[in-house]
Amino acid sequence: MQKWIRTCIERLFFYTPHISQAKLTETFENKTILITGATFGIGEACVRKLAQIPCQLILVARTEEKLISLKNELESPHCKIHYIVADLYDISSSELIYQQVQQLQLKIDCLIHNAGKSIQRSIWKSIDRPQDIDRTIHINYLNPAHLTRLFLNDLKTTSNQQHQSQILVVSTINAKLFAPPLWANYQASKSAFAEWIKAIQPELKIHNINAALIYLPLVRTRMILPTAQYASMPAMLPTKAADAILACAAHNKRQWQPWWLSIAQLCCIVFATPIQFFYRNLLKRNM
Ligand SMILES: NC(=O)c1ccc[n+]([C@@H]2O[C@H](COP(=O)([O-])OP(=O)(O)OC[C@H]3O[C@@H](n4cnc5c(N)ncnc54)[C@H](OP(=O)(O)O)[C@@H]3O)[C@@H](O)[C@H]2O)c1
Repeated sequence: MQKWIRTCIERLFFYTPHISQAKLTETFENKTILITGATFGIGEACVRKLAQIPCQLILVARTEEKLISLKNELESPHCKIHYIVADLYDISSSELIYQQVQQLQLKIDCLIHNAGKSIQRSIWKSIDRPQDIDRTIHINYLNPAHLTRLFLNDLKTTSNQQHQSQILVVSTINAKLFAPPLWANYQASKSAFAEWIKAIQPELKIHNINAALIYLPLVRTRMILPTAQYASMPAMLPTKAADAILACAAHNKRQWQPWWLSIAQLCCIVFATPIQFFYRNLLKRNM
């Protein structure tokens, strides 16, 4: 696709709210923010923005060298950076992260659930791969749900009328659309956590905790590299995705999604049968 056409499509379809430095400071100044998946892509973009303001960051991911290099590069007298090496495929990791935060004697004001795993694989190729189901459900649903549960009392005590505590969930537009074949594990695990968050949103709100779901379209990160057809498709920049996530906290929003997602949702309902037919034919052709 021509570069200028791609740029126009990206501007039109991937518009995100701008969040000023002043608003970012007003929202996160002196707050303690834990972010999972902080080493690359969207998580790293959030970290780089938050490190510009006076706050404490707790970065969680597996790649220790990258965590150390981010700390060395971004830590400053006004922004203290801690890191925790954890593998969110492992179901015990949420408890370990919680214990390490307790040892640091920190109380969390904002929890950003960003780490995620996507897999595109046919169910027929997954017969001997139980890990595809386990890993996606652990990182995309169970560990974020347990982390939320564990930090809930902290979030309740750090919130007040002026500043609500925040739980920011990086989700995907797929969670609102027709489930596509080959993506069953990603779709199911992301949708499960989105539903879980939606169900607890009112319970949290009455204690001044805002939980927001950010339904992102395609974002140009290393996550999309294994899917060849995404290489030339329009995609959002990680910095723009970070703006959408942080703006939800700044404005206490319940969700952010691209402006066209509701139209796409309606199309998925109206055209459910032709969409099934289209997918079946596509799969047969590629067999
Ligand atoms: N890219 C997209 O098109 C897109 C679209 C919609 C939603 N999203 C969502 O956006 C979020 C961030 O994705 P991204 O695109 O920024 O991907 P990315 O560039 O691959 O980054 C993923 C982050 O998650 C961490 N991570 C991966 N597996 C982990 C594990 N087992 N334990 C702990 N941390 C782990 C990675 O760090 P380590 O490797 O160091 O552990 C990395 O920091 C995900 O939740 C994804 O579902 C992405």
